[in-house]
Amino acid sequence: MPQHVDLEELRSWRRHLHQHPELSFEEHETTAYIEGYLRSLGLEPVRKTETGLWADIQGAHPGPTVAIRADIDALPIEEQTDLPFRSQKPGVMHACGHDGHTSILMGVAREFLARRQDLKGRIRLLFQPAEETPPGGAQLLIQAGALEGVDAVIGLHLIPAFPTGKASIVAGPMMAASDRFVLEVVGKGGHGASPHETVDALAIAAQMVTAAQQVVSRQVDPLEPAVVTFGTFHAGSNFNIIAQEARLTGTVRTFSEGTRQLIEGSLERIFQGMAQAYGAKVRLDYRRGYPALVNHPYVTDVFIEAVKEILGPEGYIPGRPVMGGEDFAYYLQQKPGAFLFLGCGNPAEGAIYPNHHPSFTIDEKALPLGVDVLVRTAEKLLAHPPRG
Ligand code: NI
Repeated sequence: MPQHVDLEELRSWRRHLHQHPELSFEEHETTAYIEGYLRSLGLEPVRKTETGLWADIQGAHPGPTVAIRADIDALPIEEQTDLPFRSQKPGVMHACGHDGHTSILMGVAREFLARRQDLKGRIRLLFQPAEETPPGGAQLLIQAGALEGVDAVIGLHLIPAFPTGKASIVAGPMMAASDRFVLEVVGKGGHGASPHETVDALAIAAQMVTAAQQVVSRQVDPLEPAVVTFGTFHAGSNFNIIAQEARLTGTVRTFSEGTRQLIEGSLERIFQGMAQAYGAKVRLDYRRGYPALVNHPYVTDVFIEAVKEILGPEGYIPGRPVMGGEDFAYYLQQKPGAFLFLGCGNPAEGAIYPNHHPSFTIDEKALPLGVDVLVRTAEKLLAHPPRG
């Protein structure tokens, strides 16, 4: 009978993963590490994708299936911590806490094996690759059949913005749809002293950036959250040369499908219209990313119940939606489920930096709390699964 998991073990898994981070779709060693561990527990992992895997824990009694997901990939960031277990791979870092998510789910495996005799139903552990890079690993797992027979799906994200011992969740839309775009403006280059003989792509693109600010402020319903951000602007080669081309990239964040379509259409119309007005050519490559993450109300309530039982009534912080994206959203399009933000902030541990920061780290004392909250939530869902 496997023993219950403790902080020491969770910490050692997390530190191993932290030292050996792998980028999205390249999580070969990570997958092998998880697979070896699951096999050592007597489980039979299912590998149907290049990286990532899932495994079932069949209880002694019949019942529904609850899937629990952890993402396993790291980011292209050079780690800037002094931790003794910092990344051994230059330019790659677990800067989003997915090393913590993975070890939490490894702990969840042990906890459910320890209570297999009493388990009414089945637990499916989803170790998902490539959350950080669209199109993302969630769709791959879903296409490979990871949600077949699943009645509910849950997951969590470690967030240093909340202290260890706190958790937050929102029923309904909690994270935004995140799209990206590339805007190319082509004019006619020439001498900086002879603008009348050119079509200045830089000057036109600058106006496009300004005009795009009108979309959210003047066209989107003020009660609908939306963001249009330009992240890069490249044009020109020298101070006295008029730029022939400009290339800009950006991101659009929305919650509703209507707003998403409105912004996409509006950007296209504005850029085309302006290009025509100034005699330039424009190409907008708008790529849809992850959809909005929408938590199922009942599963959210079950999560909150579990959080209050494990962390105490003060452990639950009523949440607010955020404009970040998450490919857990794809699971929620298929099955009732919910996604939790679990606090791991602690100044004493240096866990004060936001996700994706080169100095990001977590308070490891959040790891056993994550295990307990997921186990408790899954147990409740097995006993009372969502209907339909
Ligand atoms: Ni993340």
